[in-house]
Amino acid sequence: MKPKRMLSGIQPTGDVHLGNYFGMMKPAIEMQDSVETYLFIADLHALTSSIEPDALRKNTISVALDFISCGLNPEKTIFFKQSDVPEVTELTWILSCQTSMGLLERCHSYKDKTARGMISNHGLFAYPVLMAADILIYKSDIVPVGRDQKQHLEVTRDIAIRFNNRYGEILTIPEAVIRNESAALPGTDGQKMSKSYGNTIELFGDEKTLRKKIMGIVTDSKGLEDAKNPDDCIPYQIYKLLSGKKNADEMAEKLRAGGYGYGHAKKELFDAYWEHFRPFREKRSAILNDSSYIEKVLADGAVKAGGTARKTVCEIRKAVGLK
Ligand code: ADP
Ligand code: TRP
Repeated sequence: MKPKRMLSGIQPTGDVHLGNYFGMMKPAIEMQDSVETYLFIADLHALTSSIEPDALRKNTISVALDFISCGLNPEKTIFFKQSDVPEVTELTWILSCQTSMGLLERCHSYKDKTARGMISNHGLFAYPVLMAADILIYKSDIVPVGRDQKQHLEVTRDIAIRFNNRYGEILTIPEAVIRNESAALPGTDGQKMSKSYGNTIELFGDEKTLRKKIMGIVTDSKGLEDAKNPDDCIPYQIYKLLSGKKNADEMAEKLRAGGYGYGHAKKELFDAYWEHFRPFREKRSAILNDSSYIEKVLADGAVKAGGTARKTVCEIRKAVGLK
């Protein structure tokens, strides 16, 4: 049987945060030992957010650096920049011509982003088609993503099934891998943690700033002595991902019992968080100033990814009648 192929991507729109890490990076990194892995920096997708050119360049390198610091192994994983494989834009066009407006009009992500004031451009609307092309061009079997991307995976499957029905069984129908089915990781304001909402806790950065962010997480107004529900406590929800079950159960117990304040929970969270990312921080500082290493990793990845992409596009050109 053919080995499974896993693929995922992340936009270089800012510094990576705990939501990115637990939603996508950690599951993807854990899988790289057992399946063929493709990971990429979605710089073409980032253009939908009117990002400044210098910020796009800088973030692309820093997201790559963060990924490698967290354990992405370039010897095992094909790691590349989306725009280095331009065939994906050709496939986007071909798939666009098979995608109904209704399918895209139903996408929450477009509605949410425009409701929050993002400029509504065609790229933002067509975003899921580019994402489908990313996944389908590499014939990916599994796609680890955070819960917010679930609908985009459903759209991808829809597009692939429709394409195969019309042109033959060319595309692989991918499956989403969503670790934490319950909900997206909340940010410091209680909404989904996201680079676009200014509510993130980054993986790397200055200790004082990060401590301040964690101490500033919103909580309800219960006093020190009150019994508290751990499920309503954002510091606990984050702590539980970082600390292991035993420590998380202990914190839940202390919250329920009363006499343990949200300030205490935040302090424990900060300590666990800082400790958790210590080895990654050390690795990061060792490669921080070697941007030529990062560029080389991405360039090598693009050569390998490009080979796979060109094969698929060649099949597709024939199937649709361009060849
Ligand atoms: P952001 O919303 O911060 O811009 P991206 O859209 O670049 O993040 O997401 C990169 C990956 O991280 C995606 O798989 C996404 O689902 C996941 N992700 C982002 N935020 C969260 C979150 N708060 N909880 C879980 N996963 C998340
Ligand atoms: N849309 C994804 C996000 O915002 C990033 C992404 C682009 C992606 N293409 C992809 C994720 C393909 C998985 C597979 O997080």
